[in-house]
This record gives sequence, C-alpha cells and structure tokens, in this order.
Amino acid sequence: MRIYTFWVLLVCIAIPGKETFSRSFRPVKFSQAMVVAPEPYAADIGADVLQKGGNAVDAAVAVGFALAVTYPQAGNIGGGGFIIYRDADNDVYALDYREKAPLKAGRNMYLDEEGNILENASLLGYLAGGVPGTVAGLWKIHRKFGKLEWIQLLQPAIELAEQGFIIDEYLAGALRAYAEDFARFPSSRKIFLKEGPDSLYKEGDRFIQKDLAATLKRIARQGADGFYKGKTALLFEQDMQKNGGLITREDLNRYEAVWRDPIEIDYRGYKVHSMPLPSSGGIVLAQILNGVEPYDLQALGHNSADHIRVFTEIARFAYADRARFLGDMDFVDVPVEKLISKPYTRKRIARINWFGAGDSDSLLSMNQLTGESPQTTHFSIVDRWGNAVSSTYTINGNFGSKVVIEGTGVLLNNEMDDFSVKPGVPNMFGLLGNEANAIEPEKRMLSSMTPSIVTRNDSLFMVIGSPGGSRIITTVAQVISNVIDFGMNIRQAIEAPRFHHQWQPDVIFLEDSGFSRDTENLLKIRGYKLQKMRTIGIANGLMRANHSKNWQGWADPRGNGKVNGY
Ligand code: DON
Repeated sequence: MRIYTFWVLLVCIAIPGKETFSRSFRPVKFSQAMVVAPEPYAADIGADVLQKGGNAVDAAVAVGFALAVTYPQAGNIGGGGFIIYRDADNDVYALDYREKAPLKAGRNMYLDEEGNILENASLLGYLAGGVPGTVAGLWKIHRKFGKLEWIQLLQPAIELAEQGFIIDEYLAGALRAYAEDFARFPSSRKIFLKEGPDSLYKEGDRFIQKDLAATLKRIARQGADGFYKGKTALLFEQDMQKNGGLITREDLNRYEAVWRDPIEIDYRGYKVHSMPLPSSGGIVLAQILNGVEPYDLQALGHNSADHIRVFTEIARFAYADRARFLGDMDFVDVPVEKLISKPYTRKRIARINWFGAGDSDSLLSMNQLTGESPQTTHFSIVDRWGNAVSSTYTINGNFGSKVVIEGTGVLLNNEMDDFSVKPGVPNMFGLLGNEANAIEPEKRMLSSMTPSIVTRNDSLFMVIGSPGGSRIITTVAQVISNVIDFGMNIRQAIEAPRFHHQWQPDVIFLEDSGFSRDTENLLKIRGYKLQKMRTIGIANGLMRANHSKNWQGWADPRGNGKVNGY
C-alpha cells in the first residue's frame, strides 16, 4: 500500500478536479433491441431476426453464419470462439466453442529434429488448423435458448453465399493483401481469386461461394451433424489426408462445445461477466480491473501519462501470470480463484516501483518478440426481453490458415499458433507461454478473447468485446473503464485512443494518433519504451446509460461494422 498510495495522492493533489466528456459525440440509439456487428450485411440480418420476434441467441446464430460468408477474414464456420450469454432473469452463461488440437497432434509437431521451429507451419497451411468449434457452439446455444427455427436462421447466409453479395472496399483490400497466400492453395485460389489475367476481386464485384452455400445447407438441414458428420466431415478428412493435415472424421465427430462458469469481476459497483479458460480473457481482465480499482483514474486524467502508467504496470504482471499459469483447465491445474482475487492483485501492486518504469525481466524471464496481421471479430446483441449475447469468434489470422477445405468452401483456422509451440518462443501476437499451454491431443489452445457483459444491480448495463489477439484484453478493459471511470458514452469509450502493454515485449504500444508528444515524453522520461501501432482492437459494444430507456451502440470505426436495431 505504501508507495503507490503516496504516489496516487501526490498526483491527485497535483491535478485537482474531475474530467467530464461532452455528450455531443452521439452513439446510435434504439429503444428495444440492437445488434452491433463487424460487417453491415450481418448487422442487418441480425436486426431483421430481432424484428421478426427472434431473441438475442437467434440473432447471434444468424449473424455468426452470415459473417462466415460476408466477412471471410474472420467470420467463420472453420474456427471457434466464445459466448457470454445473459438471460432476462440475469443468469449468465459462458459457452466455450474454442478449437482443439487434433488427436494426432503432439507437443513437438512444429519443431524439426534439432528442435527448431518449422517456419510458418503453425500459421499457414493444413497443419495450422485446430478442430473447428463454431458450428457446435452456435448449435448448442440455439438448442438451449433459441426461439426461431434453426433452418430459418441460416437462410440469409445461404442466400448470400449462393447468390453472392457485393464486395466493399474493406473486403477487396483484404483479398488483395492475401492474394499471394491464396495462390498457394488450389482450393483457396479458385474461391478468393478470379480466373484470368486480373485475378483480384475489386470493390463492386459480386462474390459467390457455391461450395460454402452447400455446406451451410447441410448444416441447416442436419444441425451440427451437417458439419461434424457425413459429407462435410468426409470432405474434410480427404483433403487433410491429401495435404498432410491431421484432422480426421473422428476429431470432428468428437468435438463438443462446453458450458463453463463465467469469470465474475466486481468493479466499482458493477459486475463484469467474462470468459474463463481456455480463454485467458476473463482472468487477465479481472487482474487488470482489480488492479486499477484502487486508483482515482479520473483524477489522473484520461490517457495521461500517469493513467497509462497505472494500466501498464498492472497489465505487466497480469500478462506475466498469463504466460506462466494459464492453459486449458481440462488438462492443467490453474489457480484461478487466487489469480482473480483482489487481495492477490493488491499484493502484486504493492511491489510496483512507481518512481520509474517497471522491469518485465525481473518478473520472470523469457524471450520476446511480437507479430501482427490479426483478425478476429466480435458482435454484441440485446433483444427486447433483455437477453444479451457477447460473442467473439475467430480463425486467428486474417483468413486463418488461408486454406479452404476442398469442396466445402470452409476456410480453416490457424489457431494452433495460439499454443505455446515452443516454450519461450512468442506466437504471432508476441505472447509467450510454457508447459500449461503446450500442445496435447484434444487440448484447447489458450485464447485472449474476452467477450464480456457488464451488469449493475442485476440489470444489463453493457455488452462488449473486441478482436486484436493479445490486445483484446486491454482493449476491453479500457472501454469498460472509459465508461465506468470517465463517464463516456459507448461511442466515446470505443473511439478513444488506446494503449497496450503485455509484459513481453517490454514496450507500451500506443495507437498512432491520439497521444500527444508531451504524454510520450513524460513516459519516456520515466524509462518506458514506446512503440506506435496503427490501431489496437476493434471493439463493438452497446450499453444503456443510467436513467435512459434507450440502448446505445457503436461499431468501432477502426473496423467496418454497423449498428442496427429497432
Ligand atoms: O484466441 C485468440 O486469442 C486469438 N486467436 C485471437 C486472434 C485475434 O484476435 C486476431 N485479431 N484481431
């Protein structure tokens, strides 16, 4: 308590008064129900389902399948993810539909005989994919909570795949950026590249995916079996065998989505419900929020050097704990209760040296590095009854492994890279891991996805989540804190410039625009290393301000999303 209390007091005296944020930057509002999705077709489809009497789960199913067609960078049926669901009685559920390692996977599968990493093997091509969970997840939650017919919810996605849709600038740019990778795999080339000399799809072109439409029809008719059994599973196995992949029909048959106990975090009178293992999201979020709670962040000033320092020093040890302790709890013991307890975090804070930058190496030493090119996606939904879905799902990198499974139209994830492929060697997000996150058959790789729902006095307050790999957790923490600590509306909270620290590399990442030279200098003087990043996260969220009847929503302008509702 000693040093940090002294330091906070000093700052509070130096900067008196509270910050207020003008409400003139207005979010989108609807009185009854709302979808915030990362892509406009999907947002409209979700809103239509809600308007036709569907509930939040129905809308989530329709949005999830639509994104697999219209947002192939991240929307998927060949990947996996997580849902936090809160029903109108305020019961909260966590659904894990994360991918798992194939039965034939092993801890050294990405190493050569000398123990060196086989370059790109966990990122590109057939070996990079985990057994997908998305269809099982959407099927499972729909069976328990859905209201409308399953088949009806897949119909819009089927039509978009079969008849095509118009490519926008955003998708055209993404297809262009990965054209070389698609060209490596014949099954991907014929879908994502056109025939002829100018093979690139352009803005305004119609994009048709017949194989995907046929797979979606099988899922519409047979439920999850349309993916995990029968023709789709056979096509999967055949293509895997032909190309050196490991996933078999047995892997697909055995896949199950699992209900887990959500992580609950008390934060300044609000309750944040978030994702437990195999996502690190809820645990690290708990450590960050528990850590910043003793500080009067308003007094420090939003995005001031001191505000950034408080977050940074707490994130430093939270991410160090992530690397050390976290992995799939069906395989390893993790002291979750301890890690998310307030006394534990307070003890860690007491050891922080507030007079200069902290030292990541002293927390636990491992190598460092970082990578980029992320893509995952999040949607937030509330229906007229107050049921809410917060779902983040992914194929990991943009377009996953870049492999389309022949004859299915399904893009395979490259989620195997989220395992600790070799202890001490960072993954594409620069994240380190060790034994707890080593590869084992049927184990789920550790995630950072943090779909979250915030309640207050048992009422729904906020639904939030983001893509961004390791940056997801700090993104969600900052949006929640922007609302609760700084009184921002959802638009301001999402648009505000973001920063990030993840223990290793020992660098504060700052979004390109939005931090003044003064702030940067104050951090540098304290000994922090800074690195600019174009953007951090793409948060899509909604909330109901105190005393308001309306839902307010905002799709992060860092992405291409849309809010719709009624
Ligand atoms: O599960 C994870 O944490 C990562 N596979 C998420 C990847 C991601 O967010 C990429 N996004 N922008």
